[in-house]
Amino acid sequence: MKLLFIGSRLYDDLDWYVRSKGIESVLTESNEDAINLDLPDQVFIVPRGMDGPKQVALMQNVDAIVPLIGIDPPLIDVAHMKEEIESEYNIPVIASDVRAVELTSNKIRTKSFYEEIGVATPQYQILNNPNELKMDFPVVLKQGEGQGGKDIKVAHSIDDVEEYFEEFDQALCEKFVEGSEISIEVLGYGGEYVALPPIYKGETTLEGTHPLNKVKTGPCMVEGLDNNLVQHTAYKIAKNLDSDGIFEMDFMFSKETQQLYAIEVNTRPNGTRYLTTATCGINSLCELVNMAIGEFSLSKIYDNLEYHYSTEIPIGNYEGPSPKEPIKSFEDNDFVVHGPEGYQRVTARADSKEGLKQLVDKLT
Ligand SMILES: Nc1ncnc2c1ncn2[C@@H]1O[C@H](COP(=O)(O)OP(=O)(O)O)[C@@H](O)[C@H]1O
Ligand SMILES: [Mg+2]
Repeated sequence: MKLLFIGSRLYDDLDWYVRSKGIESVLTESNEDAINLDLPDQVFIVPRGMDGPKQVALMQNVDAIVPLIGIDPPLIDVAHMKEEIESEYNIPVIASDVRAVELTSNKIRTKSFYEEIGVATPQYQILNNPNELKMDFPVVLKQGEGQGGKDIKVAHSIDDVEEYFEEFDQALCEKFVEGSEISIEVLGYGGEYVALPPIYKGETTLEGTHPLNKVKTGPCMVEGLDNNLVQHTAYKIAKNLDSDGIFEMDFMFSKETQQLYAIEVNTRPNGTRYLTTATCGINSLCELVNMAIGEFSLSKIYDNLEYHYSTEIPIGNYEGPSPKEPIKSFEDNDFVVHGPEGYQRVTARADSKEGLKQLVDKLT
């Protein structure tokens, strides 16, 4: 088997798995100074966009293509490339198609998709100017596109809304939900979907602190919230998106109404994956490889499900004990360190809450 990976930044997370499967690896990257270029069997530096990867895939006669793109903007190009390569050359591309990316890449479009399929989402209004606002404060102002909390503001007064409109001429205005943030990964291929255990990402704050900066835990344990409901809702969303690869979904559970609300979907490798793997043993990036080599199987996933208590802590620069090889996996480790220097996070797991506490004390 020979696979083409697009993008090197996440490649060290699954290099060990690609090797263990005896897969021949080809990788394209647009930045010649990027990390991990020493790991694959062959690397091609190509211009940005999908023409380069497509040419390399055909020239190298690969069996399948696995995009490893962790940011939103290129996803639509990947989706177009998928549709072209799959229909013209019959080479599987393990990614979302154009419809799924269009539905999820814009938060405004996603809201109406939730409404169409009967999934609850926080009350909202599209504002073209601050005077149109009919909702009570606090509200959350967002742009259609963005990730990592970019262009998001919690507004407490009309002054805040006016200030936001100094920078933007439209806003998605959402009711502020006081409660818990939950993320979940769903894997899908060939019309089959599996929703992995939900992860708890902390409580919403009136400052709009992004979960990137909070301590997170798995499995999700929020009073009044049934994880089956989260998994069922996530499954339904994925099934209606009807595409391949990873779907990471964000939800909020309102303390006041005890209602689960869907917030957004990311159709790409995402920051929840370390906690998912720590909690249940399933690694979404390895599953992308399994999809590519024809070994993705729901029954195998169910057979391999584990149950651990896990947590992820923002740590800046990690200085604790060294993990064992392969260092970016839980194969031989009860913790994984990831993220760029200065913004590192450690994800740890144990078989009891007490054990997890002791492990975290040792690591931090
Ligand atoms: N309706 C809301 N109520 C309370 N907090 C919110 C709301 N919407 C967003 N937030 C806060 O802002 C963060 C980012 O919002 P999100 O829509 O997920 O955008 P991003 O793509 O930047 O992650 C959320 O994780 C949450 O902390
Ligand atoms: Mg989010």
